[in-house]
Amino acid sequence: MQWRHRNCFNNVTPKTSNVLLQLMRRTNELESTKEQPRILGDYEVHVAWEGFASIRQISSGEIMHSRTPPMEEARQLYVEQSNLAKRLKVSPTDDTRKPLVIWDVGLGAAANVMAAIHCYEETAQRKSVRPLKIISFENDLDSLRLALRHSNNFFPYLCHDGPDALLTKGAWQSQKHPDLSWVLLHGNFLETISNAPARPDLIYYDMFSTKTSGEQWTLAAFRKLFEACEGHGVELYTYTCSTANRAGLLAAGFYVARGRNAGEKLETTIALTPAACPTPSSCRHELLTRDWLGKWNRSRAKFPSETPVEQHVSFERKIRMHPQFRLEEHNL
Ligand SMILES: C[S@@+](CC[C@H](N)C(=O)[O-])C[C@H]1O[C@@H](n2cnc3c(N)ncnc32)[C@H](O)[C@@H]1O
Repeated sequence: MQWRHRNCFNNVTPKTSNVLLQLMRRTNELESTKEQPRILGDYEVHVAWEGFASIRQISSGEIMHSRTPPMEEARQLYVEQSNLAKRLKVSPTDDTRKPLVIWDVGLGAAANVMAAIHCYEETAQRKSVRPLKIISFENDLDSLRLALRHSNNFFPYLCHDGPDALLTKGAWQSQKHPDLSWVLLHGNFLETISNAPARPDLIYYDMFSTKTSGEQWTLAAFRKLFEACEGHGVELYTYTCSTANRAGLLAAGFYVARGRNAGEKLETTIALTPAACPTPSSCRHELLTRDWLGKWNRSRAKFPSETPVEQHVSFERKIRMHPQFRLEEHNL
């Protein structure tokens, strides 16, 4: 039962009315928690000791945005690092209405996308903005369904008309901002990648770890991603700082830079296509240098998962000869 009848407190003192209101709210909270199980499929709501909620995959134990509140991490790692607010602005003389395209790889409970949508909505209140098209990839929608059921209590960032439309119709178009849209590609990322309706400008790559989602961190996967960029300037942001993953991105043809820290990780990773990084000095990110090559050489995890042993020699050559490190040599 949900308590709604505030008016029935009309005949009591303000102090009693306050106590009753608080009691009513608490009862409603408990009722709604009772009504909505905290588990759906392979996912459950996880409440950190710090008090914020995230979604945990039961089979692997992996928690989405585990050490930082989901929206905080989404803003810091993805939205702010990719300079989204600045990229969205257009000058009054700018005649391009070409949309900025974000590939959200691993939709999960949609924290990264909602952080991007909030950024768009806030920026659009102050300036004229470019159209923004978000393309989300996801093979299991239960995490979003579960988080949405608990949006009032645990995931307030989902109190928005976008997530529900995405789940029911596979797409959402903002009524207030006709140039803001979001579509879902449901299925295995490496299979649906070729169905994407537009190539990316930014990629938010937020897959589970190599232990759980090994296929998404292989050299073959990074090559597919690189090909999907079609020679354009694209920046990819990801939470990993694994040496093997960075080596895989380099071998696939990306330039690789250090990303800011996140939770317990001192660094994360940014990958750029050559068109996004014409010269190292023009790159606004801190590219890995030859010092990193030394670390890679000593590492026990030199190669991305599932790289066959017979490919190790050619892989190693690719890393050592990568223009990112050769350019540095020329600059010495
Ligand atoms: C770390 S979570 C993403 C968190 C999300 N970005 C957020 O902001 O809440 C990784 C997500 O990738 C999805 N995933 C795993 N393997 C996939 C695959 N092969 N294709 C598409 N999605 C996949 C998982 O189901 C999970 O929802």
